[in-house]
Amino acid sequence: MLKISNLSVSVEDKQILKDFDLNIKPGEIHAIMGPNGVGKSTLSRVLMGDNHYKIDSGEITFLDEDLTKLKVDERAKKGIFIAYQHPREIEGVNNIDFLKAAVDSKNDEPLNLFKFATEVENLTKELKLKDGMLYRNINQGFSGGEKKKNEILQMRLLKPKLVILDEIDSGLDVDSLKIVALSTLDYIKENKDTSLIIITHYPRILEYIKPDYVHIIKDGKIIKTSDASLAFEIEKEGFSKFSTNDIKEKS
Ligand SMILES: Nc1ncnc2c1ncn2[C@@H]1O[C@H](COP(=O)(O)OP(=O)(O)OP(=O)(O)O)[C@@H](O)[C@H]1O
Ligand SMILES: [Mg+2]
Repeated sequence: MLKISNLSVSVEDKQILKDFDLNIKPGEIHAIMGPNGVGKSTLSRVLMGDNHYKIDSGEITFLDEDLTKLKVDERAKKGIFIAYQHPREIEGVNNIDFLKAAVDSKNDEPLNLFKFATEVENLTKELKLKDGMLYRNINQGFSGGEKKKNEILQMRLLKPKLVILDEIDSGLDVDSLKIVALSTLDYIKENKDTSLIIITHYPRILEYIKPDYVHIIKDGKIIKTSDASLAFEIEKEGFSKFSTNDIKEKS
């Protein structure tokens, strides 16, 4: 589904990713971990087409198409969705109007209003979001946890094929984390070909959403790949024991 080969990315002349490789098949769940500032969010922004980030070399293909040639809206239409680490507040744009416009722009014809309203109502209940938040400006004055739940609401409505959750677990209380994780699980169970990238610092979310692979990014690339147990090893021992030398033993 997604193939990243030899990707090098810089921002303001500073190299962030260097010869980065990642291959994701339909239905796989990949967790990405790594110290602060190594380029995890940079990777997600590059995948979405943020032009602050310069691709110096390498290739990204998504569903057999050169992703780098597509604009942000085309990527979204093709099925890529990112729940941002710091969701933006957008003044003057009503949340529910935005959601309807986003859903309609993905489909060939507008979704029936009643169908849309029913789906939003069910998801709002499931995510324990207050109804009033649908009619406020996007994310404006939302608490940290409410913003994260609103990202999941968007994901559920947009029905993407590749979901990138960038620290969706930060700022969520234990109950909200469970709600968000279970809602994400419901989605991927209903859409078995959907692939998931979970960027996180903590294993807790991975106890709900079991990853097929856990990767560590350091020095601009993946230096170790293993199963879910790696997340617990990191939680216990930190990142210092992992170095670029681990690449040699990478599976
Ligand atoms: N627009 C930008 N301008 C300048 N530097 C940037 C920009 N975006 C990212 N960087 C730098 O790139 C590096 C990687 O940032 P990134 O946000 O990808 O890290 P991260 O791995 O997601 O970290 P964290 O775990 O703290 O979220 C950092 O040093 C950051 O300061
Ligand atoms: Mg980040």
